[in-house]
Amino acid sequence: MRVLSGIQPSGRLHIGNFFGAMRQHLKLQADHDCFYFIADYHALTSNPSPADVAKHTLDVTMDYIALGLNTEKTVFWRQSNVPEVTEFTWLLSCVTPMGLLQRCTSFKDKVAQGMSPNHGLFAYPVLQAADILIYNSNLVPVGADQKQHIEVTRDIAIRFNNAYGEILTVPKEYIIESVAVVPGTDGRKMSKSYGNTIEMFEPEKTVKKKIMRIVTDSTPVEKPKDPDKCNVFALLKLVASTDELAQWENRYRSGGMGYSEVKKRLAELMIDYFKPFREKRTELENNADYVKKVLAAGAERAKSVAAKTLAKARYAVGLRG
Ligand code: ADP
Ligand code: TRP
Repeated sequence: MRVLSGIQPSGRLHIGNFFGAMRQHLKLQADHDCFYFIADYHALTSNPSPADVAKHTLDVTMDYIALGLNTEKTVFWRQSNVPEVTEFTWLLSCVTPMGLLQRCTSFKDKVAQGMSPNHGLFAYPVLQAADILIYNSNLVPVGADQKQHIEVTRDIAIRFNNAYGEILTVPKEYIIESVAVVPGTDGRKMSKSYGNTIEMFEPEKTVKKKIMRIVTDSTPVEKPKDPDKCNVFALLKLVASTDELAQWENRYRSGGMGYSEVKKRLAELMIDYFKPFREKRTELENNADYVKKVLAAGAERAKSVAAKTLAKARYAVGLRG
């Protein structure tokens, strides 16, 4: 089963990305043929600074390797190193009805948040469909926010096949992340765009500081508290053992516990959770050549698959000269 997913290089990854997406990506490596890439063409839709595009691509790659990317088995590359995907996007664009893209809520949401509605942003789902279809993917593990884009991909693949013959693999299923949304330090969804993130590999001191500042209600120490409404508890669930979690739940409900106490423990657990990977991350920072080599080898493997699908599609639509 070919599993494929793309990750936008929009900064260093945070624990919401890890528990919501990366952890599943890394787990799937054991039993599947995984293709993961850094979606740098997609990132251009928000007009980032050129220096950031390059830097963030390396940062995301280092995060993935440090956290357990199997560089031998899994194909990991930078989207723009396989430019075949942009030509393929054009072939798909020509069977994609405008209405299909006009219905995409992610475009509307991004514009509502103030992003400039450039053509790239509008056509974003076609490039995403090309990413998925050019590598003959079967499964696309993404968060719930991407569900519509996978449906659009299926629709485009079916239209292309109806017009030109059974060329493309229609991705059969998608996995919606089962983890609940990870809250950020202000209680909203943890997201780079809200500035409320905790990164896996930021200095331990900063992790602690951020955790101590997580927004809670103002129930006095002696009063019982509801763990299900607490941002600190939601994060604790991700890193505490079942036994320890049950103990904290009791302490919440019986009163006499201050939030700073549970925050301190959360900081310890969070730091411990990522400790084994931190050393590897530092090692990689001092070995940029190795990181670039991983990307180059991945691009070569990805390209050999992409070139075949593109050649078939070109022929099918009549580009035969
Ligand atoms: P951000 O909101 O920080 O820009 P992205 O939209 O780039 O993050 O998300 C990349 C992946 O991480 C997606 O698959 C998304 O579902 C997942 N993800 C991001 N933030 C969270 C969160 N707070 N909780 C759970 N999953 C998340
Ligand atoms: N749009 C995805 C996101 O924002 C990133 C992405 C680009 C992707 N191409 C993809 C995800 C192909 C899955 C498959 O998270």
